[in-house]
Amino acid sequence: MATEIDLERLEQQARERIAAAAGVEELRAVEREYLDKGGVVAELLASIPGLAPEQRRTVGSGANRLKQTIAGLLEEARERVEQAALEAPAGPGGFDPTLPLPAPPRGSLHPVTRVVRELEDLFTSMGWMVLDGPEVERDYYNFEALNIPGDHPARDMYDTFWCTEPAGSKSGAADERLGGLLLRTHTSPVQVRAMERLRPPFRAIVPGRCFRHETVDASHEHTFHQMEGLAVAEGLTVGHLIGTMKTFLREVFDRDLEVRLRPGYFPFVEPGFELDARCPFCTDREGGCSVCKRTTWLELCPCGMVHPNVLRFGGIDPERYTGFAFGLGLSRLVMLRYGIDDVRHLMGGDLRFLEQF
Ligand code: FA5
Repeated sequence: MATEIDLERLEQQARERIAAAAGVEELRAVEREYLDKGGVVAELLASIPGLAPEQRRTVGSGANRLKQTIAGLLEEARERVEQAALEAPAGPGGFDPTLPLPAPPRGSLHPVTRVVRELEDLFTSMGWMVLDGPEVERDYYNFEALNIPGDHPARDMYDTFWCTEPAGSKSGAADERLGGLLLRTHTSPVQVRAMERLRPPFRAIVPGRCFRHETVDASHEHTFHQMEGLAVAEGLTVGHLIGTMKTFLREVFDRDLEVRLRPGYFPFVEPGFELDARCPFCTDREGGCSVCKRTTWLELCPCGMVHPNVLRFGGIDPERYTGFAFGLGLSRLVMLRYGIDDVRHLMGGDLRFLEQF
């Protein structure tokens, strides 16, 4: 019968194609042609309703047999092709399946992340905790509870991005008492949040992003990193503050650095200081270098003793406890560490910069 011959011929053609296939792609092509939707077998099955009744059964069972035969042949052929590939000698330009895959491109840690991790290791080894806080803050934590009320001129020091409450916001009366929403201008709000939750003695660092509505230049970004430090206990003094800062600098710059304190004004500390360290990049104390702008001192970190009002805002008795705090310009430290000359590289997202770390 003609249909039987057709089926035989189809099977024979498929056998020849499969036997001649040299690789998995060619086998897949045969599979597509014969077995996939719209392929030879599917067409045969689709033709059945139009056939004479006595032919239907023959073509139906023949098509199913053809399908099974081709599927079996394909499976055998795939094994054969794979085995042959494994056994084939790797010639010039040839494929050696025993070689490991080429290494996928690997990312690397951002320089800020690297320094943050180092500092976290250092401070936790000295018994400090690592805390986090919200980047979208309330006026209360960013200013008010840091002894900077609404009409205080010190607010001018912090060019602030104010936010509107999200539409349909569920902020309740409690949130509203905390004042407007803003992007935190420093990590200091976490001081008050920490005091509200922890009982002295405690010490914590808070690395994180800060935001200021500033004109950007090589040393000022609208988004930058700081690391706050806060220790509260009975009997803490400026001596403890200096000791902590010297230890931290020794670890970061691998040597003992002389430090000096200059008066600095921040309403949330009293007394407040600017801490400078002897420039680790120049040994020539007379001349200095470009990093320290020929002064031999590096301005490193504002700090001071926590103001009694701030302790009170945090629910801590200033008659019994004292604290010290510092606000390290982390972006600046990262720049010093890696010799980066423009702070804008750090958050610029340029892979040519980032791939160097
Ligand atoms: C503060 O932000 C205080 N919260 C620091 C503080 C904490 C004082 C605890 C006392 C006690 P200041 O505005 O100076 O201070 O910022 C601290 C550091 O952040 C600066 O020394 C500088 O290194 C860095 N910084 C400030 N603004 C920018 C900016 N726009 N871009 C990059 N770094 C900045």
